[in-house]
Amino acid sequence: MAKIVIKGQKELSGEINISGAKNSAVALIPAATLCKTKSTIYNVPEIRDIDYLIKIMEHLNCKVEEKDGAITIDSSKLKNKPIPEELSVQMRASYYFMGALLAKFGKVEMSFPGGCNIGARPIDIHIKGFEELGAKVEIIKNRYIIKAKKLVGKKIYFDFPSVGATINLMLAASGAEGTTILENAAMEPEIVNVASFLINMGVNVRGAGTKTIEIDGNKNVDNGVVDVFPDRIECGTYIILGALVGKNLKIKGIIKEHIGALLMKLTEIGVDYKIEGDTLTISKCNDIKPVNVKTQVFPGFPTDLQQPITTLLTQAKGTSYIEETLYENRFKNTYDLNRMNAITNILTLNKLEIRGPRQLKGTKVIATDLRGGASLFIAGLIASGTTEIENCEVILRGYSYIVEKLTKVGADIKYIE
Ligand code: EPZ
Repeated sequence: MAKIVIKGQKELSGEINISGAKNSAVALIPAATLCKTKSTIYNVPEIRDIDYLIKIMEHLNCKVEEKDGAITIDSSKLKNKPIPEELSVQMRASYYFMGALLAKFGKVEMSFPGGCNIGARPIDIHIKGFEELGAKVEIIKNRYIIKAKKLVGKKIYFDFPSVGATINLMLAASGAEGTTILENAAMEPEIVNVASFLINMGVNVRGAGTKTIEIDGNKNVDNGVVDVFPDRIECGTYIILGALVGKNLKIKGIIKEHIGALLMKLTEIGVDYKIEGDTLTISKCNDIKPVNVKTQVFPGFPTDLQQPITTLLTQAKGTSYIEETLYENRFKNTYDLNRMNAITNILTLNKLEIRGPRQLKGTKVIATDLRGGASLFIAGLIASGTTEIENCEVILRGYSYIVEKLTKVGADIKYIE
């Protein structure tokens, strides 16, 4: 099994360039199937999830060309075929083919999506939305068969501002007759990125990034072009690392409005940083204060940075608490942090206590999920001795060129097959 091996306690300085956002790119590729003939997506991150999505696109008879971080998709010969489980189960975002193929063909068949095991992660809000637009949903042996003679736009109210459901319904609504209004929609930057692609290919979308989004259906769309936004979670992960072992470490390609909650929290912790244009410069903080963190939907503190900031708070002078409000099983990384000499206690399914400061010690650990893996590579970079992270594939699902980027700024990190 491949592993990442880290010798810790190296000061990191120089520049890290942020790649395109995983959680945008994995929605933009399925959205490209809406185009009659062709579309181009720039600044696509080099991560495993993209490889799996391209396999699904080729299975649907699309031609996909990759060059210098850009993907050109020829969807002129797209065929609507059932998506095999071995492909859809590889990641959560395969569910975006539901909205896209339903809009394009009025029918889609696929298995339950995969993704990090951080909670139950049902898709009831997606399904309810499709049914509101007039689709019939059958579940046969873990396979969804969703059909609609005609999708008709209407007002849909979400019980929870789900990122996935908001994007999936924007895709489905692009193939509906008339206007769809999504109320209590998610406001994450990835929603805005997908809306900009839909608008560019010819769908009229208004209000993306707010709680109310309006979509005028239009099936005659083509030649979509879009740039993937910088990855705010990758960005936040490296900023947290910089607060621990940075020496004028530069994180290039940030959009500060996308990481506002993190920056506020870092100030509360006592971390200094400087932002000039799209670059944030940060150095090691020598007096890390304990704080309480509550994860929330955007623009609140992102759940995807909960595990990385846990590692930072193991170095705080005192006790911190984390309240995870989005997922009921997102503290699994703490078992391995404790094996690295941290003191963390899971008080309830959603409440974690972190006592610091502790000198972390390198050992063999296992990455349980993507952001849990991030909390472990940060831990390995500050720990004494050597850390071996097994099951590191989950990390490569969402961090582009991680070994190369960290080696370039002075880390002793290797990927071993
Ligand atoms: C997206 O997941 C991201 N994944 C997640 O990032 C991220 O944690 C999450 O948004 C929240 O920001 C992708 O974009 C591929 P949700 P998604 O629907 O769409 C519940 C990472 O590390 N819910 O907003 O699945 C759900 O169970 C990943 O990059 C329902 O109950 O998130 C969860 O508790 C991990 N029913 C909450 O809502 C539904 O139909 C948030 O889910 C949908 C969601």
